Formats: sequence, C-alpha cells, structure tokens
Amino acid sequence: MDKQSLRHVAIIMDGNGRWAQARGLTRLAGHRQGAAAVRKIVTHCREAGLRHLTLYAFSIENWARPAFEVKGLMELLAEFLLEQEERLGRHRIELSAIGDISRLPARARELLDRVVNATRSLGGMRLTLALSYSGRDEIVRAARRLARRVAEGTLRPNDIDEQIFEDSLDARGTPPADLVIRTGSERRLSNFLLWQAAYAELYFTDQPWPEFSPEDFDRAVAWYHGRKRTFGLVEAMG
Ligand code: FPP
Repeated sequence: MDKQSLRHVAIIMDGNGRWAQARGLTRLAGHRQGAAAVRKIVTHCREAGLRHLTLYAFSIENWARPAFEVKGLMELLAEFLLEQEERLGRHRIELSAIGDISRLPARARELLDRVVNATRSLGGMRLTLALSYSGRDEIVRAARRLARRVAEGTLRPNDIDEQIFEDSLDARGTPPADLVIRTGSERRLSNFLLWQAAYAELYFTDQPWPEFSPEDFDRAVAWYHGRKRTFGLVEAMG
C-alpha cells in the first residue's frame, strides 16, 4: 500500500440488518457478524501499513432504533473493547473515538476510556470509532468550543481559519479522509465526516458489511489508486 498517497480510509459499515434478514436471522445476528468483519478488516489494514482507519460504528440517528437493538449494539461494542484491549496493544494500534461519547452507556464509556488510554501514542495505526457520531453535530460542537474561547477572550473571531476550526473537531490530529468506502448498496454520506471527507474519493459497493472481506478492501484501494485526485486544480499536462 502506498502510504504517501493513502493515509486515511473511512468506512460506512452498512447492510448488517439486510444481510441478516435475507438469511432469516435477527438484526443483532447481522451486527454480530458485522463485528467479526471489523476484526478482520482492522487486522488487514494494520498488516497493509495503513496509518488511519475510521469506522462509522454508531450514528446519532441510530439512537432512535428499537431499544433492544441499541442495547445489543452497545453490548457488542463493550465486548469488542474488552477483547481488543490486549490485541490492539500488541499490534501497536491506538484507539480513538469521535462523536458525542457522553451519550454512551457508562460501561461502554468506561471501557472506551480504558482502551483509549492503554493504547495512546502507540503509533502503528490509529483506529477511530465514530460512536454517537454525526458530522453536523461534530461541527456544531467545534463551533461551540471556539465560541467559548472567543467569549473567554482567548481567541479573536478574525483569527478563526480552517486550521483552527479543524483543530477544534473531535477528529483533530487525524488527516482528512482519502477514501470513504460504503458497503450495503446505498450511495450517500449519511452525515459521516462532513468536514474531513471534503476531497475524499467515494467508493460504493453493494456488498453488505458482514461479507466485506480483506480482498474487497484491496479492491477498493486498487480503485482508489486508479483515481486522479486534483483537489480542485487542473490536471498537470504530461
Ligand atoms: C449498519 O447496518 C450498521 C450499524 C448501524 C452498526 C455497525 C456496527 C457493527 C459493524 C458492529 C459493531 C461494531 C463494533 C466496532 C464492534 P444496518 O443495521 O443499518 O443495516 P441495514 O441498512 O441493512 O438495516
């Protein structure tokens, strides 16, 4: 993998429910299979030398799902964090989270804090989980942080530029997304990384997330390397 030109891959893991329904299984069984796919893809990305992987694990909108599904997803998250603590450390993967973490149940929040602290600055790869996340909410909370600094007198409105704004986002310290992958056949961003995906290449596949394999990931990366990224400029003449 070319580390220079592909630093950050972000994935919208969609299609767990439909994958399960098509097999006569419960939606939670689909999420469980989805968590298994997460483990495989994280390992694969680390082995391939990727520096930043962000996974959309739970959106703010997902809180409105039936209570038993929300509870099941939070339990899966807790299980994942418990089991991954040692493994992430061993593979030098640092965990971080973006989103309104204060809304997570206490147990998930505590485990998250624990694993984030235990894996801080490991430097191999940063795995970011978007939890209770929406891009607009992240931007609004960043605006609030800046407004507070202005009110305290430590920041002047005219000094606010893109860099200062970016440094106030949850995802500060993670470079912009180069490639956004969405599984599960929908073709939209669904409030994911609205700021960070401004120039990302968008890759859509019909495959539901539980079936998304390391080979599928490599296909998306190969597609990405075939793209010409101009960032609004004109292509250089050959
Ligand atoms: C979308 O599928 C997926 C989610 C809402 C949750 C993603 C969660 C996981 C992959 C498992 C847990 C994650 C971790 C990090 C342990 P959907 O339910 O919207 O599918 P559908 O559109 O087919 O109904």
